[in-house]
Amino acid sequence: MDPHRDHHAENGSHDGDGSGDDSNGRLPKRRRPSPSPISVAEIRDEFSHHDPAVARINNGSFGSCPASVLAAQLRWQRLFLRQPDDFYFNRLRPSLLRSRATIKDLINADDVDEVSLVDNATTAASIVLQHVSWAFTEGHFNKGDAVVMLHYAYGAIKKSIQAYVTRAGGHVIVAPLPFPVTSNEEIVQEFRKALERGKSNGRKVRLAVIDHITSMPSVLIPVKELTKICREEGVDKVFVDAAHAIGSVDVDVKDIGADFYTSNLHKWFFCPPSVAFLYSKKCLASSDLHHPVVSHEYGNGLPMESGWIGTRDYSAQLVVPSVMDFMSRFEGGIEGIRKRNHDKVVEMGKLLAKSWGTCLGSPPDMCTSMIMVGLPGCLGISTEKDALKFRSFLRDQFHVEVPVYHQSPKDGENDALDWRSSVTGYVRISHQVYNVEDDYIKLRDVINKLVHDGFNCTMLSYS
Ligand SMILES: Cc1ncc(COP(=O)(O)O)c(C=O)c1O
Repeated sequence: MDPHRDHHAENGSHDGDGSGDDSNGRLPKRRRPSPSPISVAEIRDEFSHHDPAVARINNGSFGSCPASVLAAQLRWQRLFLRQPDDFYFNRLRPSLLRSRATIKDLINADDVDEVSLVDNATTAASIVLQHVSWAFTEGHFNKGDAVVMLHYAYGAIKKSIQAYVTRAGGHVIVAPLPFPVTSNEEIVQEFRKALERGKSNGRKVRLAVIDHITSMPSVLIPVKELTKICREEGVDKVFVDAAHAIGSVDVDVKDIGADFYTSNLHKWFFCPPSVAFLYSKKCLASSDLHHPVVSHEYGNGLPMESGWIGTRDYSAQLVVPSVMDFMSRFEGGIEGIRKRNHDKVVEMGKLLAKSWGTCLGSPPDMCTSMIMVGLPGCLGISTEKDALKFRSFLRDQFHVEVPVYHQSPKDGENDALDWRSSVTGYVRISHQVYNVEDDYIKLRDVINKLVHDGFNCTMLSYS
């Protein structure tokens, strides 16, 4: 690719999203979606590429992308291949800008330059943590200064903290989180204690990494409150890992008040894999924040750097307007989808817990479009390995796709006379627009049959 291109590409403005390029490669205006709400049959068509044999109750891991958005993505890819040079010089940058502007409005950011598009939340975390790492190695932070994170931080993010912070001399403090959880207050208390530990011995807390929705177990974290506490306690910067957020919870970055905030767009926002946004507060957007893949745009600000990390397929980042069109076909748009998913996942979670004689892992207002449901204790899920084996068993034998979580009973809880005493495993169920009640009924009945047949995880020979 030409490293000497000038920066005229911004003026190649047009009104398309690749969703209607004619045979000359011109981009007409996007088709307006029809005013009548999408029908059940149309939803089925949009997701007809899903394996019909599988009860897919796991939108949380990889998300989903409707056919109309996949078609728009293909048009972008063909547009690039049709005349790559024209695409690169005239179309890529303004089209990325349009996606960023859409996200900026959705998350209530002040400025489009606060929004960068990156591959995924993992990449976004690397950007933030690399920034912290430099501060250690260049002597802006003292060795031993702390980074605080939640015990349930995502595994890849924990590794990133290890790679960028621990190696650079930072001290990592983990805030344990209760699970099952019954109130935000339990989380707030543990977080406060972790900050106290972080500040002991004269250390400074340089960064707090807070999930908006933890992955496993899945819990909605009071992120605004925790950010406020960080401010009161003099924490330098707050990074919110909100990989699951946009499309499943309201995102208002100004209201939350963190310095950095990332959400995948391919999980709950219907983009194809893979794309995420990273918000960085205006005063920081132009600071020493860089994409880990260095290319020609190095030094031109994170949004520009992220907009060209070498020759590759950028189509997943370009379909954001088509995603908006897709969502506008649903009553209430993104908010309507969000609310119905939440209501339905709670309803289904309660249905399962009632049938299995267990309980939810959190109250409904501490979950979004995913909820944890206790599994009958007699299934014998005693280790993380059992949980993984049981998940594979459900997939292979019953075509049910659902993540399984193992949770050891806390000290003293074994004797308690409540449902927690026997529950050592949970399923994390998701609800997205393509789900139907039969997906959950299938799961319910499989578990009930296993219980009835005296199944126990020790019978599984999966390695
Ligand atoms: C809380 C959390 N953070 C980060 C990630 C990483 O997302 P990705 O693999 O898209 O980078 C995930 C993925 O599930 C997650 O749940």
